Amino acid sequence: MDPNIPRTLPRKSATFDDYTLSEIRRAATTGIYDIRGAGAKRKLPHFDDLLFLGASISRYPLEGYREKCGTDVVLGTRFAKKPIELKIPITIAGMSFGSLSAQAKEALGRGASMAGTSTTTGDGGMTPEERGQSKHLVYQYLPSRYGMNPDDLRKADAIEVVVGQGAKPGGGGMLLGQKISDRVAAMRCLPKGIDQRSACRHPDWTGPDDLEIKIHELREITNWEKPIYVKVGGTRPYYDIALAVKAGADVVVLDGMQGGTAATQEVFIEHVGLPTLACIRPAVKALQDLGMHRKVQLIVSGGIRNGADVAKALALGADAVAIGTAALVALGDNDPHLEEEYRALGTTAGAYDDWHEGRDPAGITTQDPDLAKRLDPVKAGRRLSNYLKVMTLEAQTVARACGKSHLHNLEPEDLCALTVEAAAMAGVPLAGTSWIPGKGTY
Ligand SMILES: Cc1cc2nc3c(=O)[nH]c(=O)nc-3n(C[C@H](O)[C@H](O)[C@H](O)COP(=O)(O)O)c2cc1C
Repeated sequence: MDPNIPRTLPRKSATFDDYTLSEIRRAATTGIYDIRGAGAKRKLPHFDDLLFLGASISRYPLEGYREKCGTDVVLGTRFAKKPIELKIPITIAGMSFGSLSAQAKEALGRGASMAGTSTTTGDGGMTPEERGQSKHLVYQYLPSRYGMNPDDLRKADAIEVVVGQGAKPGGGGMLLGQKISDRVAAMRCLPKGIDQRSACRHPDWTGPDDLEIKIHELREITNWEKPIYVKVGGTRPYYDIALAVKAGADVVVLDGMQGGTAATQEVFIEHVGLPTLACIRPAVKALQDLGMHRKVQLIVSGGIRNGADVAKALALGADAVAIGTAALVALGDNDPHLEEEYRALGTTAGAYDDWHEGRDPAGITTQDPDLAKRLDPVKAGRRLSNYLKVMTLEAQTVARACGKSHLHNLEPEDLCALTVEAAAMAGVPLAGTSWIPGKGTY
């Protein structure tokens, strides 16, 4: 080649990027699909694509230190004799004992209780430490029935019937053998050390009519005291929420595709479901069409990270949000001070998602007794409580700037969108215009 002829620079393909190439090589070497934890990692339309407008002349802001901005929420006001009264509209999502250490479950209970909110069990049942430290504990009733115990149903403050999760709507989770310790095996009635795949659908019902019967049974068992939630992954939110309401739910939980999971196939996490932002307005519309908005409460989850996300979800019509991944980070997950240990696992702080392997140096997504011992539930609980407090203060700051004396007074009218996609999904105008693309077509 003539050295005087300029050569173009080597160019990597945007389609076959480094990550894609590494995945093809990994698949070719192992012959098995990739499993991981956490939620969708690719960039999707999200709450960052929305902005609050704030008040000026046409709207009147509230004074930060003098004027109140309420944050309380009551969940389960439709049928339950004992609805749940929370000080803040940020709840802790269901995360299983098995995927998480007993110490992490206890820390979630402690942090939630300190902040005046609820936490939730998960696939695998209720631990006594978790029940003991949680003022408000929601008990999950899942397709797998792992750890399901009628006595625990009665010990809970609310029951959440899980139909699906945002990270894997239509699929079940996985708990690999290395995390099935003696205790996890005993609670799930499974053999120790054998890979376990959770069911993707409930064994005893196939549709909304059966769900109605199931909800009725759960109410009877618990004397009509406890709110019954129904949790769905974001797929067809308008119809799913309408059917959950018809089946008798007191509360609906809607989890978008950024929502975290303990472990499932990567292809599932990244390629199935709707972004959280796209789920909220159709769900609210379904509730409004049934005359049930604010009567059946809507909890939204999937990628909630800060008070702005909380305020945006509420402005779009949610009554509360739930957090999973962010709560684990608050406890100490993926912390840079453990960088050397993450490197030894072939990853880096902020990217560690091989939660199924059970080797978490932070002691959170593990059943290894030595690693789990590293997490102090008291200190970790305090960190979670601090984080929840900051999120609440942030949401209040934004709400006051919009002139709102309660977080629930936030409304779509307070928002605009930075992209056409976000404007269409959230049903709010594109910034600087009055244009709402696709308005009214959910
Ligand atoms: C470690 C982990 C374990 C989870 N286990 C369960 C579970 O047992 N049942 C369930 O319904 N959802 C489970 N989820 C999903 C959460 O309940 C929630 O829907 C999701 O984490 C919300 O999204 P976020 O992580 O972005 O906040 C789990 C999530 C994580 C991160």
